[in-house]
Amino acid sequence: MTPRHFLRDDDLTPQEQAEVLDLAAAMKANRFGHTPLAGPRSVAVFFDKASLRTRLSFEAGIAELGGQPIIVDTQNTHFGRGESLSDAGRVVSRYVAAMVYRTHGDERLAELASGVDVPVINALSDGYHPCQLLADLLTIREKLGATQGRTLAYVGDAANNMAHSYLLAGATAGMHVRVAGPSGFDPAPAVVGRAAEIAAWTGGSVEVLRDPNEAVDGAHVVATDTWTSMGQEDDGKDRLTPFRPYQINSALLAKAAPEAIVLHCLPAHRGEEITDEVMDGPRSVVFDEAENRLHAQKALLTWLLAVNEG
Ligand code: CP
Ligand code: NVA
Repeated sequence: MTPRHFLRDDDLTPQEQAEVLDLAAAMKANRFGHTPLAGPRSVAVFFDKASLRTRLSFEAGIAELGGQPIIVDTQNTHFGRGESLSDAGRVVSRYVAAMVYRTHGDERLAELASGVDVPVINALSDGYHPCQLLADLLTIREKLGATQGRTLAYVGDAANNMAHSYLLAGATAGMHVRVAGPSGFDPAPAVVGRAAEIAAWTGGSVEVLRDPNEAVDGAHVVATDTWTSMGQEDDGKDRLTPFRPYQINSALLAKAAPEAIVLHCLPAHRGEEITDEVMDGPRSVVFDEAENRLHAQKALLTWLLAVNEG
């Protein structure tokens, strides 16, 4: 039987997403009290791209679950030099309980996951960053009490993985999601359509805007991300000029709700998409957000293993 994977945010239904977040909160409250990987069972974590938070939070989290993390930079593997990802996945799945993969195109994740009987987790792709969104939603629950009915404004590169994940995961969590970026950096229409479909079901909503002030107006959560994602460094596009009006600074943040929190998945480019004043200011919860990667991913792994193994 095909196992449940977590390749996109909408691989979890609203109820399932809530279950994972409830479990994450429980596991955070009793950090060393859950050892579903005791044995130890192993989890392989593959990186085609750089990482600090994802790598360390998975490595620590798998160990805290009683398991053995196997962290692999793929340049040193055969699939980093052309072995079929499908063949590699079928081999590795004989060794481990789950696989986690950070890569470029989403088709690479699908290929790794094809023909395996263990769950595969997307640790960031060009299209989505769903593990980050579980951490973000956990942070929103902690700081604002709930996600349902809250307004989240994401301003900056509305075409990137974070924008797509905010749309899908935010809609799944019943949020009113607004994304705003300059012309030429809009989210994929198929993702917007899917998010709107989910929002119609959860009582949330989805808006794609051009004006950052309109997006942030009255928002409970203000989020941004780098203007240059991994893999885009040499594409020759001028990003600084069109993105400048989308910087999260004190003037833009003043338009948000008085209790608004600021999220950034990190790493931040201080002085570009976010100012020092905001990053280090009282509304910023970015380090709690980074910590929550650990708790959210431990819960996700636990949940997926329970669902797949009964
Ligand atoms: N936020 C995030 O995924 O960070 P890393 O690239 O350091 O893993
Ligand atoms: N959009 C960024 C997120 C980094 C965590 C990137 O893909 O590089």
